[in-house]
Amino acid sequence: MRLLVTGGCGFIGTNFILLMKERHPDWKIFNLDKLTYAGNRKNLLKLEQDENSGYTFLHGDIGDREFVTAVLHDHKIDAIVNFAAESHVDRSINDPAPFLSTNIMGTQNLMECARQAGTEKFVHVSTDEVYGSLGPDEPAFSEKNPLQPNSPYSASKAGADLMARAYFETYGFPVSITRCSNNYGPYQFPEKLIPLMFLKATAGEKLPVYGDGSNIRDWIYVDDHCTGVELTLLKGRPGQVYNFGGAAEKTNLELIREMLHLLNRDESLISYVKDRPGHDKRYAMDFKLAEKELGFTPKTSFRQGIGKTIEWYTANREWLEDVRSGAYREFMENWYGERK
Ligand SMILES: NC(=O)c1ccc[n+]([C@@H]2O[C@H](COP(=O)([O-])OP(=O)(O)OC[C@H]3O[C@@H](n4cnc5c(N)ncnc54)[C@H](O)[C@@H]3O)[C@@H](O)[C@H]2O)c1
Repeated sequence: MRLLVTGGCGFIGTNFILLMKERHPDWKIFNLDKLTYAGNRKNLLKLEQDENSGYTFLHGDIGDREFVTAVLHDHKIDAIVNFAAESHVDRSINDPAPFLSTNIMGTQNLMECARQAGTEKFVHVSTDEVYGSLGPDEPAFSEKNPLQPNSPYSASKAGADLMARAYFETYGFPVSITRCSNNYGPYQFPEKLIPLMFLKATAGEKLPVYGDGSNIRDWIYVDDHCTGVELTLLKGRPGQVYNFGGAAEKTNLELIREMLHLLNRDESLISYVKDRPGHDKRYAMDFKLAEKELGFTPKTSFRQGIGKTIEWYTANREWLEDVRSGAYREFMENWYGERK
């Protein structure tokens, strides 16, 4: 297969490419990434430097019609997995515009170019956040739940999902949509909860927790999500949405306490900060359809996954320092500084 992955220098894209290269060494993978603050080309440098790896990096924007058209044509792409996005909720609250531009307009451009090129399969990677927020006793989100996004980020992802639906219904475009819960694992940019808490805790700094820490997320180890995307690429039905989850619901406070325990640090480091506006209370995913149709199951328990993740960040401190030194530091100072 000649596969175009977009946003492959980000957290999930990097893990996806590494895993697919391990499982399908014969696939030719082309990684189209704009290298925003969240994209790190170094993540896949070993593959890039090995001329027999079947991996090619392409610097560009999914919203650039001419560039994407040339990529699809020159590299004879069979299938596309679209991870490229602006992905951080807090940033979307500060400035929604880039979220609309990449997540909606960029995705539409990518689909249009692929439609013109006759691409056989397109997997659009979306999120559980498009469904909005659940009450404590409500059943988990199924693919039939209405889209009720509450943040500019989730609204932009929902916009792209609806456009993908329209491309399938209107043009018969072969797009499947995946919606997954919160991922964690190696290579996650340290503005997100788990790597941020790791950095702060190991530096002996206060850990900023929104509100009273009772918001619930369903955590999935990144390799399990990548497997879900792989299964969708290989077996997913065009026009179908597939939910993926980790079956590991936790309050933010429970998660942070577990991390502090594993890192041998004191809970007195926890510091409650003003809640995020529009903060969704709870997410939980019903992924029975993916189990039935795709044979998906999350294989990594939260305990195993968080252990592996902490080991990775401990062994790759240099990576963390590298990415935090630029845009990360500036953003953290502006955002959390203001909100304390
Ligand atoms: N992280 C999660 O928990 C989670 C959960 C469910 C779904 N998702 C979705 O998975 C996808 C990947 O998430 P992530 O956490 O890896 O994000 P990330 O922010 O770590 O990476 C995004 C990548 O996209 C690239 N990019 C941004 N704009 C681009 C553009 N216009 N053209 C080309 N490349 C561009 C960035 O350079 C970066 O490499 C996103 O679509 C996100 O909505 C994430």
